[in-house]
Amino acid sequence: MQQSTTVTANGISKNASSKEAVTAFFEEEDYERARKYLTRFQTLMTYYKCAMYEIETKFKVLNEAFSPQLDRNPISSIKCRLKTPESIQEKLHSKGYHISLDTIEEKLNDIAGVRVTCSFIDDVYMLADALLMQDDITLIDRKDYIKNPKPNGYRSLHLIVIVPIFLPNEKQYVKVEIQLRTIAMDFWASLEHQLKYKKDVEFTEAMAKELYTCADISSKLDGRMNCLRKSVMSDYDSSTDEAQDDSLDSEDLDALSKTIERIKNQ
Ligand code: GTP
Ligand code: MG
Repeated sequence: MQQSTTVTANGISKNASSKEAVTAFFEEEDYERARKYLTRFQTLMTYYKCAMYEIETKFKVLNEAFSPQLDRNPISSIKCRLKTPESIQEKLHSKGYHISLDTIEEKLNDIAGVRVTCSFIDDVYMLADALLMQDDITLIDRKDYIKNPKPNGYRSLHLIVIVPIFLPNEKQYVKVEIQLRTIAMDFWASLEHQLKYKKDVEFTEAMAKELYTCADISSKLDGRMNCLRKSVMSDYDSSTDEAQDDSLDSEDLDALSKTIERIKNQ
């Protein structure tokens, strides 16, 4: 029995395909052209995947680095996603661009996406600032939907950055979309997404109003939790204008010198 051939946007399936089966339908040179194109597409997607990993790792490192200072982890979760070929095609089409590797690279900023969910609003800005301070990160766009929520109530901090990735024989600069939000913002956004895209149900004006009210409540909740955090914890606080008191008192100095002694004697 002849093996079926699967030509996917991710490449020509190695197991299921045979060149003979494809060339039965296409001219040899068409097959070669398609194969080369798919390889280039796969390579491009690999770049985005690597860039996504780079950004994910940077946030994991920041989460650990802030942990001793804060006595807690500022990041609640990190989610990564690579846009599917279908979604890439749909987006280019909806924006009126033709589909090519060049338009993917030039016109789309969200092929690689990293979503960072934090406990508190201050953590969102603290992490964004810490990432953007890194000398291999280039910021190309910043949208602060926390300070300026969308009309429907959506809140998040969006960053588009360029990060270098190091491959066996080359260095590539790749765009990544980062969304930073609190747990409350994430909760609202995921429910809103589910409701808005529910098939066969008309999204009414009253529903939109109700969603906006929910966004408002979640925003107030975030504000109150942030204030509570400030009262309970005396950690790094990026939102206040007061100078941080980093001076050491005699007890701190005593503890520090004992620690140094201990390390020396080890
Ligand atoms: P595109 O990226 O081309 O869609 O446009 P843009 O650059 O103006 O996008 P924007 O920064 O506003 O939003 C990008 C992403 O944020 C979306 O793909 C969603 O993941 C998320 N987002 C934006 N607005 C909303 C919203 O109203 N509700 C939800 N649930 N998510 C949103
Ligand atoms: Mg987008």
